[in-house]
Amino acid sequence: MGKIGLVIALDVVRVKIEKAIVQFGLGETYTLNSNMLKVALKNLYKNDIQLLILDVDHPDYEWQELLLAVQNHPQNKSIPIVAIGNSADTKFVKQLTNQGVADYVSKPIEEVQFVSRLNLIMRDSSRLTSTAVVSESPLTEFDAAEANDDQSISDLEWHEKITKIKFKWSSDFETHIEQIDKDHKEIIDAYENLYLKMKEGMGHEFVEELLRFLNDYIETHFEREEAFMSEIGYTELEVHRGYHHEFTVQVKNLSNSLVDSPNNSDLIRVNLLIKNWLINHIVKEDMKIHYFLQKK
Ligand SMILES: [Fe+2]
Ligand SMILES: [Fe+2]
Repeated sequence: MGKIGLVIALDVVRVKIEKAIVQFGLGETYTLNSNMLKVALKNLYKNDIQLLILDVDHPDYEWQELLLAVQNHPQNKSIPIVAIGNSADTKFVKQLTNQGVADYVSKPIEEVQFVSRLNLIMRDSSRLTSTAVVSESPLTEFDAAEANDDQSISDLEWHEKITKIKFKWSSDFETHIEQIDKDHKEIIDAYENLYLKMKEGMGHEFVEELLRFLNDYIETHFEREEAFMSEIGYTELEVHRGYHHEFTVQVKNLSNSLVDSPNNSDLIRVNLLIKNWLINHIVKEDMKIHYFLQKK
């Protein structure tokens, strides 16, 4: 797995982003600290950068120059670029998009949403650039690499894996809809519980129980959420229902693919499925219900 390159002006912003990337298990970071364009481009290639976060307010870089240089560099041109900056001007954002920037996030950076957007871009770009055979598994390429069938991983590797996928509840998940938040808290608690059990080295015994919980959870929570959306006249109900269906299929596929005695790889698969869903669905989709209610 490649690294996430950072060209960020303020240390405090860089540290915040670095911490979030590591906490959410998106990979390692690499700070580009050379203001010589040629050296910077060489370092990008040498460090196997798979996504670049570019601060358009960086005093040492002319962002347009760096953007063009990356896009025209034979080894770096497929790296997606996520820009961050102080401006919230739609014309400026449009200009960035026209110049091939994958996403733009205005400061201050809100970690959970930011990481969720990075995650989606990384998944899309690895889908587009990968020449490997696409697996029918619901997991991403990143997950598949993490959860191979090797059961003989060392204690050190195991510790590294579980540290990477640690995850915690925070107010960023709150939709301010009481029952929905209660349900979300429950699933995040289940995730944390799994994490703790994994840390104690006993998570694999817990996989079947967790999947049973997940199956029940999906049924009641999705039903409740859909009924609520219908009650308030939520305009994107059908699209949202589609996401729920997609996740239900993923959980069912995972349950069916488990062997009699789940191993550590299965544990990581379950863990990543919950985590990816938590980040991508709760933050991106469920939060829209809250915004819809606010606008009403
Ligand atoms: Fe939902
Ligand atoms: Fe939900």
